[in-house]
Amino acid sequence: MQNQVQPFRAIEISGLARRLATEGRSVLHMEFGQPSMGPPRKVLDVARAAIDNDRMGYWESPALKERLAALYADRYGVAIDPSRFLLTCGASPALVLALSICFPAGARIAMARPGYVAYRNTVRALNMVPVELPCGAESRFQLTAEALDAIEPAPDGVIIASPANPTGTIIGGDELRAIAAVCRRRGIRILSDEIYHALSYGEPCRSMTEYDPDAVIISSFSKYYCMPGWRLGWLLVPPDLIERAWSYLGCLFLTPPTLSQHAALAALDCAEELDANVAVYAGNRARLLEALPQMGLRRIAPPDGAFYIYADIGHLTDDSMGFCRKLLLDTGVATGPGIDHDPVDGHRFFRLSFAISAEEVEQALQRLGGWLPR
Ligand SMILES: Cc1ncc(COP(=O)(O)O)c(C=O)c1O
Repeated sequence: MQNQVQPFRAIEISGLARRLATEGRSVLHMEFGQPSMGPPRKVLDVARAAIDNDRMGYWESPALKERLAALYADRYGVAIDPSRFLLTCGASPALVLALSICFPAGARIAMARPGYVAYRNTVRALNMVPVELPCGAESRFQLTAEALDAIEPAPDGVIIASPANPTGTIIGGDELRAIAAVCRRRGIRILSDEIYHALSYGEPCRSMTEYDPDAVIISSFSKYYCMPGWRLGWLLVPPDLIERAWSYLGCLFLTPPTLSQHAALAALDCAEELDANVAVYAGNRARLLEALPQMGLRRIAPPDGAFYIYADIGHLTDDSMGFCRKLLLDTGVATGPGIDHDPVDGHRFFRLSFAISAEEVEQALQRLGGWLPR
């Protein structure tokens, strides 16, 4: 079973990128979904003060849970008791926790292919079985209620991701409602990864908790809040799972970093600065969607959210890892191979993160333009 857990290949690209940078090469980092802007200034000020004033013991911030409940009331219009939030070291352990409390070994978990590399691999690491549904351009690389209804036998669970990694596509409110209805009827537990919420370029993202109060929601401070290395996320569980989730959290992970919890509380009040970053991403998105097709990269589902472009490079290669490695070595532009997200068709896709500055996007376009065959 364990052997089926595959490596996250963008990490290898990132390692090579860092090595090239130490050798003096100019590298543009578009391989990870990692905002190049640091966290807001106020976050850093609060963190500095916390180092001086807090002994950094094991701790869960009650204020942070209350503030998260207020966020859900403001953003989605749902009333959530703060006790339903569990604080974790990012969305990654939140996913492990969610799967562990909801399903036994052997459970079948549906997910879109392409999808975030960790979904199928974490499911396998926990001795569960991924049921990958091929999702092409016609469904904007997303799961639909219809596709979930057609799986026989019904899976035990499904992982929904909107906005999605690697495509950035969003599932609208009506479809989320339809998915919730199918899952209720068929007894499928929904895990909804909402880590890219607040990063959207049209309609705001809707949370699955609006449509299915029994859904388990995964999120974190890594993306919109620009705090990936602070390792802080959360799980929102329905009331009947709280006790079980507590037992698992305490035994598997204990508490997340105290420093990060102080800092995150401040981050939740920094919407102005964070939305200014989103405006930069929106400009980057528009620029890439204009320029990439002119370089021959025409098959792209325009991302509704997150900060990725997932582009079809099938006319250039059938080895996305080799393509990304050579692109990096030749030009210094680091990107992620589609094979991470889709073991079947990903050999002909690559992913660019545009959570970088507008200037860096221009440089990347210049280098790509000179490198891609016309
Ligand atoms: C869809 C998705 N979920 C979860 C994660 C993991 O995030 P975290 O840094 O909060 O562990 C990522 C990271 O890129 C992601 O893209």
